[in-house]
Amino acid sequence: MALPDRLSLFVSCAPGLEPWLAAEVDALLGPRAQVVPGGVELEGDLSTVHRANLQLGLAQQVRVRVGRFRVTALPDLVRKAQNLPWERWLAPGAPIRMRASARRSRLYHTGAINERIARAIGARLGAEPVVVKGEDERGLLVHARFEHDEAVLSVDTSGDPLHRRGWRLATAKAPLREDLARALVVVSGWDRQSVLVDPMMGSGTIAIEAALLARGMPPGAGRRFAFQDAPEHDERRFEALRARLVDAAKPALAAPIVGRDRDAGAVAAATSNAARAGVELELVQAPLSAPLPTADVGALVTNPPWGLRVSGGRDLRPLYQRLGELVGALPPAWSLGVACGDPRLAKLVGPLTSAAVQSSDRASSPPAPHMTSDEASEASESSESSEASEASEASEGRAPQRRGGRRAALKRALLTDAGGTKVAFYVRA
Ligand SMILES: C[S@@+](CC[C@H](N)C(=O)[O-])C[C@H]1O[C@@H](n2cnc3c(N)ncnc32)[C@H](O)[C@@H]1O
Repeated sequence: MALPDRLSLFVSCAPGLEPWLAAEVDALLGPRAQVVPGGVELEGDLSTVHRANLQLGLAQQVRVRVGRFRVTALPDLVRKAQNLPWERWLAPGAPIRMRASARRSRLYHTGAINERIARAIGARLGAEPVVVKGEDERGLLVHARFEHDEAVLSVDTSGDPLHRRGWRLATAKAPLREDLARALVVVSGWDRQSVLVDPMMGSGTIAIEAALLARGMPPGAGRRFAFQDAPEHDERRFEALRARLVDAAKPALAAPIVGRDRDAGAVAAATSNAARAGVELELVQAPLSAPLPTADVGALVTNPPWGLRVSGGRDLRPLYQRLGELVGALPPAWSLGVACGDPRLAKLVGPLTSAAVQSSDRASSPPAPHMTSDEASEASESSESSEASEASEASEGRAPQRRGGRRAALKRALLTDAGGTKVAFYVRA
């Protein structure tokens, strides 16, 4: 059975990034994306699959829906799954990984669902697939989602999660994932033409993603994808597309992108990562207090240390206060993006306005369409914890930081999850 030209795609992303990913799809791929929990849906063809994998910097995985049908009995599942065009994505006997979920469906035993789908694939292709289970084992990921007796079967065309671009082989302390670093740059509202500084760059992820974004380099240009192993994959055609997209990138940045860190190891890591990513940055060893570039327009985008693991028990409040002074002294046209998982520390950079969870005028893309329950609870948590922090400063005999003065007001543009840890992105109010 020939695969229809139109493919139904689901592109997943980190929670909270959905509307930003939809804007990225609209800008880069053409077809309009529909925001759904955990990602976006869109229609396209094989070239959309290739371009989504190569070009979407906020995405985690591109799945193609192989089939959707109503089913309430296991023998029917085998029969219907066997009718789907698996040969388009999978060679006979090739390894697969399986992931099933079931909600409000008569078929609810995910082990039995996986087993029947593997059997159906084997019958269709003439050889049983090898089902691998270990996280490190390679194999095409087959998803089965059952909801209200409707099965949606899809395959992952990406392989390794898309944030693994291939250039970040050297890491410093607590690196920020590449997709989140790019999202922070995007929500900051940076114009992609003026100077950008990350004064606490660690392994340089924010600076490198900013450079790739400003030059329009496809973030996936240097890696492999699962669809390259598909039986009908046309490697020559795909490599021509990759080369065209790389050639279309701007050859140089319009203004410098500066990464700084006080730690020499971090500067070394960022230098080797930037070389692998093919971007030229100004990377220097310097403390946070070193002067910032003088320019009327620019962006300060950073991910300061927070949490016990990174602080090593050190009191981070002076560092955040210092960052607040730097931000307060910036010309008004500078954009700001700060990623932090501790609202009490973030409050020391600048007072958080109550509009934080709703929208962001300065941010360059659409705000989240709705406030999730997580966001709502975090919003109230952040104001309570700020009072707690001021109270604890006062009890330690220090004058608590007061609002106003030269501190710029911040608002929260995004709340996301960086591998089990909630991280908020703050921009200027
Ligand atoms: C959370 S890490 C940044 C991780 C980075 N975003 C990445 O993806 O690798 C924070 C960085 O801030 C740096 N840092 C901490 N205090 C600093 C200071 N006072 N001046 C400059 N850098 C500082 C640390 O050396 C560390 O590399």
